[in-house]
Amino acid sequence: MITLTDVSKDYTQGSETIHALKPTTLTIPDGEFCAILGPSGSGKSTLLTIMGGLLTPSTGQVCIDDVDLTEISRKELSRQRFTKLGFILQSSSLVPFLTVRDQMVFHAKVAGTTPDTRRRDELMDRLDIASLAGKYPDALSGGERQRVAIATALMHDPAVILADEPTAALDTARAFETVKLLRDLTHEDGRATIMVTHDERLIDYCDAVYRMYDGELTRDTTARRGRDGERADGSGRQQAHPICRAIRERMPWLCPPRRSNRRG
Ligand SMILES: Nc1ncnc2c1ncn2[C@@H]1O[C@H](COP(=O)(O)OP(=O)(O)O)[C@@H](O)[C@H]1O
Ligand SMILES: [Mg+2]
Repeated sequence: MITLTDVSKDYTQGSETIHALKPTTLTIPDGEFCAILGPSGSGKSTLLTIMGGLLTPSTGQVCIDDVDLTEISRKELSRQRFTKLGFILQSSSLVPFLTVRDQMVFHAKVAGTTPDTRRRDELMDRLDIASLAGKYPDALSGGERQRVAIATALMHDPAVILADEPTAALDTARAFETVKLLRDLTHEDGRATIMVTHDERLIDYCDAVYRMYDGELTRDTTARRGRDGERADGSGRQQAHPICRAIRERMPWLCPPRRSNRRG
């Protein structure tokens, strides 16, 4: 779980102050896959880098589980980042001179711990990349590369995954595949995943949608969906036929009551 309380960020440029992120309070619970959408320059990266402990906010607190990232020492912060967070970037998050197999244990080696090769092999099976184990990134397709990046980010079992435009370099089919994978991993493993994206089509797969304009984050409740593009209230997948809608409006006694399965 990640919680932000009154988090803001100002940048000063000469005599000018840019309010890149206005005071923001939000919680992404475990098991929730959320999207942040917004135009370029609206503050999405600022928010994501603050969540990742890579940028210190001007005000407010960022807590991952029970640890306040803004209160701890630099050393402890980098340890928290290393153990609690997984980052997935657009495309360049793989090390070019490592095979897929070595890529996945690189994080552990940098940390000076013994790589868990069993977990690596399980993840490679789960993400369907076992056949790519001996390949280098430049021999992989965009979709394969993103699956490897996701597997690598999951190696240390992070509580929170931060994904900045993870599908931007993929074609439509691969983009949907990747986002479904991220969603399933979020739900199955009970992590919190935050994905920044420009792609409106992807919000169908998200549990919560936030929109950023000029540093102001708001929750888009109209976009709240369930699995596979079905709205949480059951109305998304199939639009009612106009005749059915007319009957429902004018002769409601003929229609069964609407199913309501909105979660939370
Ligand atoms: N290091 C910085 N110094 C000054 N201004 C910055 C810096 N980083 C971002 N900004 C400004 O903050 C605003 C939000 O930027 P950013 O978070 O990168 O937006 P987004 O990711 O939505 O494109 C923009 O106006 C940008 O110019
Ligand atoms: Mg950005």
